[in-house]
Order: sequence, then structure tokens, then C-alpha cells
Amino acid sequence: MERIPEPELMEEKDQVISYDEADFSEGEVKLINQINYYLLKKNISLGQKDLIVDLGCGPGNISEKLAIKWPNTEVVGIDGSKEMILRAEYKKSISTNQKRLQNLRYICSDIKEIKSNNFLLKKRISLLVSNSLIHHITKLEDFFNTIKSLSSNITVNFHKDLKRPLDEKSALELKAQCSSKYNETLTNDYYASLGASYTFKELKNFTLENDLSSLDVFEDGDNYLIVYGNV
Ligand SMILES: C[S@@+](CC[C@H](N)C(=O)[O-])C[C@H]1O[C@@H](n2cnc3c(N)ncnc32)[C@H](O)[C@@H]1O
Repeated sequence: MERIPEPELMEEKDQVISYDEADFSEGEVKLINQINYYLLKKNISLGQKDLIVDLGCGPGNISEKLAIKWPNTEVVGIDGSKEMILRAEYKKSISTNQKRLQNLRYICSDIKEIKSNNFLLKKRISLLVSNSLIHHITKLEDFFNTIKSLSSNITVNFHKDLKRPLDEKSALELKAQCSSKYNETLTNDYYASLGASYTFKELKNFTLENDLSSLDVFEDGDNYLIVYGNV
């Protein structure tokens, strides 16, 4: 299946609301557990001196879970969509976990422009995370250049995303499964995202051809890909 890029930012209000109202908690908890597993494997425990950055944070589902899991560590969620950041801030303000989210803040910025933001200069990033972001990025080099410029030798990268289905038939089957759980706007967005996703080969080849082989690319089940490691 040929890749069909989709707009990078999710800026439409109904798109943002549909995304935010959907329950993705099962996958989100799995992601936090996966990150924890890899940090433990590397003998890394995050504390006050550390900084976690969640790129393309959307309404903050993952950012909030990171902030709760690592309560002593500063967490910054970044998204280029004003609507998404407004939603994330609002959710934080009404959260029953508000007291446990004091280590979390949000920044509205395109990920390709955050190199110039001063806030990052204050601390090096210990954990650089994204979930369902890579497929939004039109050119792979923009994604990899961003994580390269934000990473130092202490940064563990963990990026999870959809894997592009092999053919249209598989994409339509996944779309049908989605429509049984979620509304039409979200189902259409998901279908567009499947078409915009990268394949294992595209991500792996990019790392091999661009001196990024310290990053591991692997499949997570049938439908997801993970980019993990140091840059
Ligand atoms: C599918 S959502 C995922 C949200 C969140 N990570 C989660 O797992 O719930 C992708 C998000 O990435 C953001 N995004 C896409 N391209 C971006 C870019 N170039 N800079 C900043 N944010 C971007 C979109 O606006 C959207 O909020």
C-alpha cells in the first residue's frame, strides 16, 4: 500500500474532541509499562534531575500518565496544535489527579522548531517519547532530525506508532474494527492515519542509511512499530 501523507497537525475542533473523548487507556497503560520495562533493563531510574518530553502530546493522555508514573520528574508535553494544547491544559485543570500533575506542563510548538526553545536548554532530556506521532510527519528526516537535535548521550528514545497495513483490504478491516468502537470522525482519522503510517522497512532503512543504527526499530504485534534507543 502506497503511503498517503495526512496533515501534520490535528487542528479541527471536532477532530480534537473525538480524539480526546475516545478511550485509548489500554494501549496507553501498555506503552507506559513498555517504557518502564526498557528503563529498568538499562538500570535507569528517573528522578528530580531528569526531564521527560512527550512529542505530539495531543490532549495529554500519555503526558499525564508519564507524570504520574514518574512523580519527581519534570514532564513536558509538546504539540503544534493550539486546540490540542488547550484541551490538554483543560484536562489537567479538571483532573481528579491534579495534585499528581504538578510536574507536568505543556508547550504549543511544532516539533521541528523546538530546537530554538530555551526551556530545553535548562535540562537535558532523559526520556524522549512519542505515541502516534511519526505518521503525521510528512518527511521522515524531519522526525529523525528533531529527535537527534533534542537528544544527548543520556537520552532514551521511545517512539511508538501505527504500522502501515500491507494492502487496502487490511486497512479497511482495521477501519471496520475501529468503527465498531469509535465515532465516524475518529474512524476516518484512523483510516487516514493508517495510510500515512510508515512501514517497518521504511523506518529501519532510514536509520541504517542515516547513521542512526543505535536506534532499534521493531514491530510490536501486528499493527505497531517502536523506535527505541539512544541517538
Ligand atoms: C494522533 S495524535 C497523538 C496524541 C498523543 N500522543 C496520544 O498518544 O494520545 C498526534 C498529535 O501529534 C501532533 N503533531 C503532528 N505533527 C506535529 C508537529 N510537526 N509538531 C507538533 N505536533 C505535531 C498533532 O497535532 C496531534 O495532536
